[in-house]
Amino acid sequence: MCGIVGGIANANIAPLLLEGLKRLEYRGYDSSGLIVLSKNNKLLRQRAIGKVCNLENKLKTNKIEGKIGLAHTRWATHGEPSDKNAHPHISKNSISVVHNGIIENYVSLKKSQIQQGYQFSSETDTEVIAHAIDFFTLSSNSLLEAVQKTLKTLKGSYGLGVISSNHPNKLIAARKGSPLLIGIGDNGNYIASDQMALLSVTKKFIFLEEEDIVELDLKKITIYNSEGTIVERPIKISNLMEGKFDLGTYDHFMQKEIFEQPQAIRDTLESRITKDRVVISAFGYKAKEDFQKINQVQIVACGSSYHAALVAKYWLEDIAKISCNVEVASEYRYRRPIILDKTLFVAISQSGETADILEALKIAKKINKKIITLCISNSAESSITRISDLVFLTNAGPEVGVASTKAFTTQLVGLALLTCALGVIKKSIDKSQEKNIVNGLKRLPGLIDETLLQENQIQKLSTKFIDKNSALFLGRGAMYAIAMEGALKLKEISYIHAEAFPAGELKHGPIALIDNNMPVIAVAPNDELLSKLKSNLQEVKSRGSQMIVFEDKDSKVMPMKGMEIIPITSNLGRITAPIIFTIPLQLLSYHVALIKGTDIDKPRNLAKSVTVE
Ligand code: F6R
Repeated sequence: MCGIVGGIANANIAPLLLEGLKRLEYRGYDSSGLIVLSKNNKLLRQRAIGKVCNLENKLKTNKIEGKIGLAHTRWATHGEPSDKNAHPHISKNSISVVHNGIIENYVSLKKSQIQQGYQFSSETDTEVIAHAIDFFTLSSNSLLEAVQKTLKTLKGSYGLGVISSNHPNKLIAARKGSPLLIGIGDNGNYIASDQMALLSVTKKFIFLEEEDIVELDLKKITIYNSEGTIVERPIKISNLMEGKFDLGTYDHFMQKEIFEQPQAIRDTLESRITKDRVVISAFGYKAKEDFQKINQVQIVACGSSYHAALVAKYWLEDIAKISCNVEVASEYRYRRPIILDKTLFVAISQSGETADILEALKIAKKINKKIITLCISNSAESSITRISDLVFLTNAGPEVGVASTKAFTTQLVGLALLTCALGVIKKSIDKSQEKNIVNGLKRLPGLIDETLLQENQIQKLSTKFIDKNSALFLGRGAMYAIAMEGALKLKEISYIHAEAFPAGELKHGPIALIDNNMPVIAVAPNDELLSKLKSNLQEVKSRGSQMIVFEDKDSKVMPMKGMEIIPITSNLGRITAPIIFTIPLQLLSYHVALIKGTDIDKPRNLAKSVTVE
């Protein structure tokens, strides 16, 4: 989603801002812009619709230089993607603003600003912030004060960067509901919405807390809380490695991240299991005590993380014998849910910044203060880790491709560990079952390596989708959630319409869709529902569909004309099967998208981290 980078340095900052924007591209955006304050205190701006390289080309022909500046990648919410709606926005040639988030009361603010004589040059909600700061400048002693007064008038969420030609040595930044951090460099101080933007200049970061406002100059960083009191925030050294953002020998980050899964899972498991036990403190030092207090689980998540949650519902109820509800966060946050005491409330979010999930978590805590909250996230310094009682980090490393791959499978590993931990605490699994689960998890990297060997065969199958507009994915039990994940992957990166169904539901309606133009993809592990699934596959096949079945080598699905059967591996259990069967579905969508020539790592309209609702 939108990205911010800005700073004040002792040399021209424009190249650094441009580099920062390139590093934020993975988050998804549709226009970008950059502004600096020149030697003679003039705001110099360039904006471009489309990719950052379009902005770069404009900057080549119209060079701009200055030691203080702001830059932004915009994912359109209010107003179409266009040059005029791209940030930074300017008021009266003196104030410039970049903004992530949404200003909910912008319509009323805009109305009164028009009455005050302000002219609007964009359709965005952001422009009201620039004009409000300009307005308050008249009654303030500093840019900081004008921003503080402005923030009091705003309803909604913001990550904000502000510069002014009247205060050429100051940069003001603020956050509320949208992440923002400060980077401390040798030659300057910087702001960004994401560490990645600044990794080329620093590894020293300060993560702002909710409603912090910061005043930066070349030498000094002063942070104020919402009451205006100066506060100290810790400096953290990032352990993100620059090399993690290189493609290496791969063509796409999604492909790289699919192949990184064996290592990502090893990293998730590192120090979370012993020879045959789960380390319960992996969820937090109080986890053992907290888990003893709970007797049901509520999970909220979005997209792929929601699919991981659906798998976990099967595991928690089947294996740990704990009741579990799962809901998409965007719906949950607007209900009046009943949350019983002794609930473990789990929020799953790769980025840890998804607005709907953060809000659902906050609302749950308001409804029942006694619940224990746990987040499963891939981002150590994210907002979600700050507001959860217990934290489990998936440690998958940065995921750059917009479509989730290694983040999803490592979330499943985290949820498998949670199932085991709760099962042990509730005494619903014994030592030998715990040992079996741990051994299954240890086998995962090898099993994934084995599954990845099917890539050539899957690549050949992908040609069948060239002229298809729709596809169905089938699974039963926890594999229904994996079918949903397969359908989401295909939709996201190949733009082919895809839907998933529990195979037993087909005859209640969707079977009417089956014809020769509707490929059906099924996942068939060797489990207790296999014979039921086989009957469902017969029903589909006899209606003339083209089928692809990914099966366990022991499943022995009966071959039929028009059906391709790809044996994956064998000896999978309830925990390992959903994780392993995800891999061929990821590879299938990747190769279909490759044939279709889509922008695989940055699919249209999508953002990596959905920080607005
Ligand atoms: C799908 C995908 C999205 C995310 C969803 C939640 O490939 O990446 O559906 O899973 O936006 O994001 P997080 O997990 O960051 O909260």
